[in-house]
Amino acid sequence: MASQPLLPAILQAVMKGQPKALNDSHYPGWHLAPATGLLNDPNGFIHFAGRYHLFYQWNALGCQHQHKCWGHWSSADLVHWQHEPVALMPDEEYDRSGCYSGSAVDNNGVLTLCYTGNVKFDDGTRTAWQCLAVQNSAGGFDKLGPAIPLPHGYTGHVRDPKVWRQGDYWYMVLGAQDLQLQGKVLLLRSENLWNWQNLGEIAGSGLGGLGDAGYMWECPDMFTLNGSTFLICCPQGLAREEKRYLNTYPSAYLSGQLDYASAHYQHGDFHELDAGFEFYAPQTTLSADGRRLLVGWMGVPDGEEMRQPTVANGWIHQMTCLRELTSRNGKLYQQPVKELQALRGEQQGYRGVAHKMPMLSAQRLELVLESAGEVTLNFADTLILEWHRDELRLARRSLENGAWLYRYWNGCAHKLQILCDHSSIEIFINDGEGVMSSRYFPAHPAQLTLTGDAEVRASYWSLRACMVE
Ligand code: FRU
Repeated sequence: MASQPLLPAILQAVMKGQPKALNDSHYPGWHLAPATGLLNDPNGFIHFAGRYHLFYQWNALGCQHQHKCWGHWSSADLVHWQHEPVALMPDEEYDRSGCYSGSAVDNNGVLTLCYTGNVKFDDGTRTAWQCLAVQNSAGGFDKLGPAIPLPHGYTGHVRDPKVWRQGDYWYMVLGAQDLQLQGKVLLLRSENLWNWQNLGEIAGSGLGGLGDAGYMWECPDMFTLNGSTFLICCPQGLAREEKRYLNTYPSAYLSGQLDYASAHYQHGDFHELDAGFEFYAPQTTLSADGRRLLVGWMGVPDGEEMRQPTVANGWIHQMTCLRELTSRNGKLYQQPVKELQALRGEQQGYRGVAHKMPMLSAQRLELVLESAGEVTLNFADTLILEWHRDELRLARRSLENGAWLYRYWNGCAHKLQILCDHSSIEIFINDGEGVMSSRYFPAHPAQLTLTGDAEVRASYWSLRACMVE
């Protein structure tokens, strides 16, 4: 058992910290964020027994990456969420350094969590156990213990099990680092969630024609959509390009065909999943009506995260909006789920030259903009989107040294759908062909101003706040 029981400290942190977080002008009005402390990866996203469940990596005690628990929210409609009992706390020997990321499955009517028990040793090394927990009648979770020890041939960096059912078996993808310090994804198979057979590496650095592709692949997710099998992953150490993979760690996907019998995954090159400043560790699940949904962490580990001004108010990070994935020609498209339209107030519109469009309040806003480009969108002088004919360029100042930083989406944009929520912006390009997700920290009330002589057609809505209950 851990030396100090966490629960009393968590309760105190929430009681003391939540009012401060909620009163912060940067706290989101309709995105999911921590009541206090640090939130990172979405975990265990599932539709189960009539409700959506979304768990999350959570340190209630502060804004550092420590004491990782699984927080838990549920929702009937993907818009209104409620707090559920904390699902997992790092209180066993096998998860004492953190209940790390994982997924949820419906095992014959029992909501079952598969997560990584992370164990760090004093000499700086670590090990990892892939563990199971099942929901109890009080809505909490009972740990069942480790099912999978560290596989041979890998360092202690083996984590983030994503489990799904296919035919008569359970399958799992795991992020891993081999002994040559190359990032890999392992595929495992089981009949009962307890006994797992390692089918081997299905993708990774040095495999499948990828060349050198990083030292650790985190948070894999695998699913088939419209005939293509996608592997989403976060390949840490992937080389930066001039205009792609510019974040400290990227989030990317491969598209191809998985042969379950031979565990062979034939895939093409990487695609960046989101071209903004903040996006990492996304997870997908199926909706009640069979749509493939995605939610990501609107943050990136390391880098400048601890410079975010919300740290002074005891909280940091938020989730992205809930998105629907579709696939065309082996490419993923992302769009906000249609349920979010319930947040819209009265529709307004504008047609004319960009610079004559009225200034909009960017606090909670949805804006659909059609144009041929050469328009600049200025969000409170803090985030600037330059819409060129063949490229989007998003600019923001470094929180560390004030230098301008840029992110790019390459292509010809004709339509943008932009969602703003206090300190976040998600830009969906050409009905989901690309996305740029970013945090920004404007002085409030934040205004959006357009400049440029180009013609634009705009529809916009102010969005209602919708807090977790
Ligand atoms: C990704 C990650 C995961 C790990 C978790 C720990 O952000 O590093 O690989 O399970 O966060 O919080």
